[in-house]
Amino acid sequence: MNYDDLASIYDQQYDSYRDDLHFYAGLAERVGGRVLEIGAGSGRVTSFLTRRGVRVLGVEPSGEMRARAQARAAREGVTLDIVEGSVQTFRSDERFGLIVAPFNALMHLYTPAEQLAALQNIRAHLAAGGQFVFDLYVPRFGAMNTLRHEGETFHAPDGSRTDLFLLQRHDAPRQLITTEYFADTAAPDGTLRRAHHTLTQRYFSRFEMEWLLRCAGFETPRVTGSFQGGPLTEASEVMVFQARADSSPA
Ligand SMILES: C[S@@+](CC[C@H](N)C(=O)[O-])C[C@H]1O[C@@H](n2cnc3c(N)ncnc32)[C@H](O)[C@@H]1O
Repeated sequence: MNYDDLASIYDQQYDSYRDDLHFYAGLAERVGGRVLEIGAGSGRVTSFLTRRGVRVLGVEPSGEMRARAQARAAREGVTLDIVEGSVQTFRSDERFGLIVAPFNALMHLYTPAEQLAALQNIRAHLAAGGQFVFDLYVPRFGAMNTLRHEGETFHAPDGSRTDLFLLQRHDAPRQLITTEYFADTAAPDGTLRRAHHTLTQRYFSRFEMEWLLRCAGFETPRVTGSFQGGPLTEASEVMVFQARADSSPA
């Protein structure tokens, strides 16, 4: 999945998403040392941690997302260290006490082979006693095959307005949700421009992910249903996993 094409609407949609920021910052401060962030994207979390004094190495495959992260860094007056790479193949000699993959970054691993390669690679980069922490959304979907508007309207300084419509398709046997976005931008003179973007996510159930982690050499993770540590319940929107390597050799 290449985020280059999605980068502009990603920032419009999620730049102000803050639910996870204090959770990851608190963890990083407690663990200490440099943090490895998988799927750092446009630097939303990277920048927050950096501004709190945490040193972060980000890994991100999309050039457009990395460019946006650097633009953010310039805007916010921070230096962000985000390198090109993917979670399955990234290599470093450094070992990390904390590796994080915030906000569904693992949902672009579509096959069991990709998932295992990614988790094994993460485990190989953990320092002794280190932990891998990430969150995924709880799979629960709106109306499929129906063009929807979920209240996402963005106003630009030039007076134009963008309305985001989405159309989702569910490939249940492969646990894939594909979202097509139709971004309609109305200029002040009334002209309308439509842009089209596609996002495919592989969703996970809680126990599927627990077993994947165990197959990749982790202990059974702690799983919560919120960033505040509450249990996973019917009402939870996120699953937060905290996993440590098991005692077998890496
Ligand atoms: C939903 S965004 C989250 C971005 C950022 N973590 C945040 O919280 O704003 C998912 C990110 O994962 C990245 N990604 C996709 N495939 C990846 C892979 N194989 N390895 C590492 N990152 C990947 C995407 O390019 C995208 O930037």
